Amino acid sequence: MTAAQMTAQMRASRAGPLIGTVRAPGDKSISHRALILGALAHGVTEVEGLLEGDDVKATATAMAAFGAGVERLGAGRWRIEGRGAFVEPGDVIDCGNAGTGVRLIMGAAAGFELAATFTGDASLRGRPMNRVLKPLGEMGATWVCRAGGRLPLTLQGGSLNRIAYRLPEPSAQVKSAVLLAGLNTPGGVEVIEPEATRDHTERMLRAFGAGVEVSQEGSGRRILLPGGQTLAGTRVRVPGDPSSAAFPLVAALITAGSVVTVEGMLLNPLRIGLLDTLGEMGADLSVTNLREEGGETVADITARYSQLIGVDVPPERAPSMIDEYPILAVAAAFAQGPTVMRGIGEMRVKESDRIALMAAGLAACGVSVEEGPDSLTVMGASGRANHGVRGGARVTTHGDHRIAMSHLILGLAADEPVAVDQPGMIATSFPEFLALIRSLGGEVE
Ligand code: S3P
Repeated sequence: MTAAQMTAQMRASRAGPLIGTVRAPGDKSISHRALILGALAHGVTEVEGLLEGDDVKATATAMAAFGAGVERLGAGRWRIEGRGAFVEPGDVIDCGNAGTGVRLIMGAAAGFELAATFTGDASLRGRPMNRVLKPLGEMGATWVCRAGGRLPLTLQGGSLNRIAYRLPEPSAQVKSAVLLAGLNTPGGVEVIEPEATRDHTERMLRAFGAGVEVSQEGSGRRILLPGGQTLAGTRVRVPGDPSSAAFPLVAALITAGSVVTVEGMLLNPLRIGLLDTLGEMGADLSVTNLREEGGETVADITARYSQLIGVDVPPERAPSMIDEYPILAVAAAFAQGPTVMRGIGEMRVKESDRIALMAAGLAACGVSVEEGPDSLTVMGASGRANHGVRGGARVTTHGDHRIAMSHLILGLAADEPVAVDQPGMIATSFPEFLALIRSLGGEVE
């Protein structure tokens, strides 16, 4: 990001209702995986609907550096020619802002005889990599890095040992890093997750021809990837990202008179905790055109302006909506009564400390909030004497795209405009955010 982008701001103001039909950008999780599995596979993979955000573009560049042929054919259409193996990159791999990118790529690279140095932007250099280094180390990979397992980090891959790894925290990134390392481990790997997390890696490994066995283990899962697997290039159609679709949908729920449809949204059961929660809050959401596309369920979702009520969000729902709590907190600000979100400690190690930044941003906009070590309570303004949400703040985002978009959505329905800093970071996951909100009638500048 340039100095100008760092200092720039974006501002959202209340205008009329939001009306229209839009498409959410391609799912970020699936886009990263399509590029990485395409590069690990033998032969050609063609991807349609790839998210062309900065995070995913950094992964595309990384895959080329590890030896894959990577070509953009048109908007969202990419061709990856995999060589069935990674080669040693000639330069540092810069994953930008992308935790998913760097953690999955480290897993994928660990099984090859190569050294690779990874870095990223200031946010990514501050995030913990120990959670993936621990299992990769148990498998035999070695590395040198900054204190606390921080980037920059040089990973030395090689021949790996089988492990059965029980995830200490619910993390699809860690699960995926171990599975990708397991592809090149003669004995394979087993991952036990006490709580089920998004399963796009397992689904996509199967689509590329790998045998993956998944069984129920309490409220979580046991995933077995036998050794000696080879992947064959395939076609991947990337569905719309529910984590991005959440922004226009919540915008419609809190802005009087609105009706917004998001087409082609991924409805993977491990990604729709927000829809369940909004439903419990009394949101008028309808699901139409339910269909199967490329091994995933997708549908069109319509949100209509609703009088929401505050709810208690069960902690076990966190893995299925971990990236959606910031925008849920905005919906909660317009609800009647408190919304309590517990068991969300993982939010503190995302692109920013999202509990702290949402608490600070909402408070600056006149919303009463209570922050706990792993919880956030938002007192809904609606139903009280001076019922609206005031807004009228310039919110610090620490370069976190979801903090920025959440507060801009709040600004569309608040009494006074809301501005955010570092709006350039929105392009990491949702480059067309501004145009999409404007196309619905939202006032953002
Ligand atoms: C992701 C997993 C989640 C999520 C991230 C994408 C993935 O992170 O927050 O945006 O694609 O696997 P964790 O695995 O750290 O929970």
